Amino acid sequence: MPRRRHVVYMDHAATSFPKPDAVIDAVAEGLRDLSANPGRSGHFLSLEAGRALFQARETVARFFGVPDSRQVIFTRNVTEALNLAIYGMLRQGDHVVTTSMEHNSVMRPLRDLETRGIIQLTVVPSSREGFADIAGMARAVRPGQTRLIAVNHASNVVGTLVDLEAVSEIKGSAYLLVDTAQSAGCFPIDLSALDVDLFAFTGHKALRGPQGTGGLILKTGKEPVKPIVRGGTGSHSEFEAQPEFLPDKLESGTPNVAGFHGLAAGIQLLEAEGVDKIRAREKELTALLLEGLLRMDRVHVYGPRDPERQTAVVSIDVDGMSPSEVGFQLDRNFDICVRTGLHCAPSAHRTIGAFPRGTVRISMGMDTTENDVNEVLEALKWLVSH
Ligand code: ALA
Repeated sequence: MPRRRHVVYMDHAATSFPKPDAVIDAVAEGLRDLSANPGRSGHFLSLEAGRALFQARETVARFFGVPDSRQVIFTRNVTEALNLAIYGMLRQGDHVVTTSMEHNSVMRPLRDLETRGIIQLTVVPSSREGFADIAGMARAVRPGQTRLIAVNHASNVVGTLVDLEAVSEIKGSAYLLVDTAQSAGCFPIDLSALDVDLFAFTGHKALRGPQGTGGLILKTGKEPVKPIVRGGTGSHSEFEAQPEFLPDKLESGTPNVAGFHGLAAGIQLLEAEGVDKIRAREKELTALLLEGLLRMDRVHVYGPRDPERQTAVVSIDVDGMSPSEVGFQLDRNFDICVRTGLHCAPSAHRTIGAFPRGTVRISMGMDTTENDVNEVLEALKWLVSH
């Protein structure tokens, strides 16, 4: 398929693009050399596939500061990881606290359980900039009844970062589930220093891996998460009951070996570069973008407007033009890729005052350059002056 020569890709919050050559090569190697079924057959090809999957699990564990890679459960994406945590843990009568900034991958499963009368749900309103009201969350926690607190680390709409340490301090006996779709890979995270019980990540965004990879990390491995899918694991084949040990308890069916082999290659690139350095560069780019946007007439900037308190995700609105019209013009006339409208988080849009209109979301990544930012600013300047 022909690709346009010059593209300014500003949609990294949806998925990172392009994937690094090292990731592409690793996926190809996985398909070519590691495509026997891991953990099943016992022949050398199966063992090689099993080793690659194990190495990928070790890489993820090392990257996030997890002592035992068996606590890393591989899933297809962060949505599946969040569903596993939510449906796997909640019981009749449980109470859950969440925030108004959550993505539908948290909100929809929670609303489903609430609608069916299984859980009670408190959605604590966040500030207009997207900051979690941690005192409000503390007040919402019901000792002995609140089973889960679910919060995203960074908003996919405006990038607002949530102070996980502060949330962990108010959780009491509840389990804390964190959605790191927008932070894993671009914001330093060390789980050995954080009291997070259930940590959901996706592979295809800032971790630079292929789509179809993600996972749920259990803090101790003893968290009471039941499988939501049961089936072949290659282990305990004599029993019709699901194995009780991790990761097999929560991982059934033939895994995406090539994908996770690619994810490991993506993570190794981040390790070589240093997430601190990536974060520092993305902060500079965010500052440059915000500075330019805040000077423009007819442009409204949502969110914290502060690179220290957000990821490299900036949502805007342009007076007199719908978000989709702005996105169309950027794409058609300037080869600039952004996401427009509602970003699968209606409650977050209500919180920031952008519902149902939506926003133009500009989201940057590890390969974004100052030049890319300047091209976006120039294009927007042209749009608002015509
Ligand atoms: N959740 C992703 C986004 O915000 C897909 O675009």
